[in-house]
Amino acid sequence: MPTKALVLAGGSGTRLRPITHTSAKQLVPLANRPILFYCLDAIAAVGIRDVGIIVGETAPMIKDAVGDGGEFGLDVTYIHQEAPLGLGHCVLIARDYLASDPFIMYLGDNFLVDSLSSFVEEFDTTRPSAQILLKEVEDPRQFGVAIIRDGEVVGLVEKPPDPPSNLALIGVYMFDVAIHEAVRAIRPSARGELEITDAIQWLIEHDHVVRSHVIEGDWIDTGKRQDILAANRIVLDLLRRDLKGTMDPESRVVGRVVVEPGAKLVRSEVRGPAIVGTGTQLIDSFVGPFTSIAGNCRLEDCEIDHSIVLEGSRVTGVKRIADSLIGREATIEPSTDQPRAYRFLVGDHSEIHLP
Ligand code: DAU
Repeated sequence: MPTKALVLAGGSGTRLRPITHTSAKQLVPLANRPILFYCLDAIAAVGIRDVGIIVGETAPMIKDAVGDGGEFGLDVTYIHQEAPLGLGHCVLIARDYLASDPFIMYLGDNFLVDSLSSFVEEFDTTRPSAQILLKEVEDPRQFGVAIIRDGEVVGLVEKPPDPPSNLALIGVYMFDVAIHEAVRAIRPSARGELEITDAIQWLIEHDHVVRSHVIEGDWIDTGKRQDILAANRIVLDLLRRDLKGTMDPESRVVGRVVVEPGAKLVRSEVRGPAIVGTGTQLIDSFVGPFTSIAGNCRLEDCEIDHSIVLEGSRVTGVKRIADSLIGREATIEPSTDQPRAYRFLVGDHSEIHLP
């Protein structure tokens, strides 16, 4: 049984900019809960208590959100990484924490629907040096990719321009003590990182047993806007209807909707699956399916669906918003100033798609 978990919550979130200019990518919420929390839930669910979390420049935010891990039934130790030098580097710096224990390594921006229990059981009974999870994807070029022969992993390549298969490496791995020798043996890749993929390849080349398991359930590497929105849709789909806020008689809530305590609906409709956060006000608005509105937002005279709005934002008079990720404390509103024109204060790396 793996007795520890190593969760990777450092790195830099270049693909999710500008949201990650001000916040950690592992803290972007799905149904109003940080992605990282689903990973910690999954680890706690298989009975692991000791979790080391790798943190980098966003350490204060991660620590603020997770604390000592008690809320998840976990005992969390933070391990500081001075720069994002690779997933293999994370194992290298966690050597003292991990000691010689078998462990699960979980990338804090990966979202997996399936429970880890059958994966852990398989590792326990077969005792390989590494067990990896794979998923068939359409375009594997942005992932580690496995080469399988007769059901065995015979090789792994990181982000190949010409993939040898469509089996992508999921960011959930199980290792025994041999991985420590592997991460010490490998050299940085062309992108300057110590790749865990190369470390597993090293294990294969040095006759260690590496097992793989192709999963059927949903898996999302939440790197980009469309991926975050897809993961948000999956989580919202699992919600149970729970109406705690207040609503006037002219408001309507249809289907699996969560209205958190202190949220207020005025002449508005929410059609599930959707969630409306604490302290948020919806006025003369329509919130459509697969939408998460975080706490303390104000939406007036708008229509929005398939979107995520983060904490404290205000949107007025926009019909209609779809497939959007709106950051914290953002304002979108009509202006009466002359001349009539779009007026933007747009952060670096923002995207605006006009109809
Ligand atoms: O998502 C699965 C993919 O994850 C695998 O298919 C790839 O083989 C694997 O290399 C990894 O690729 P990414 O390029 O997507 O990894 P990324 O840089 O996004 O980092 C993954 C997580 O680990 C993320 O939560 C940030 C954290 N991290 C990353 C690095 C490089 C660290 O904590 N420290 C680091 O040095």
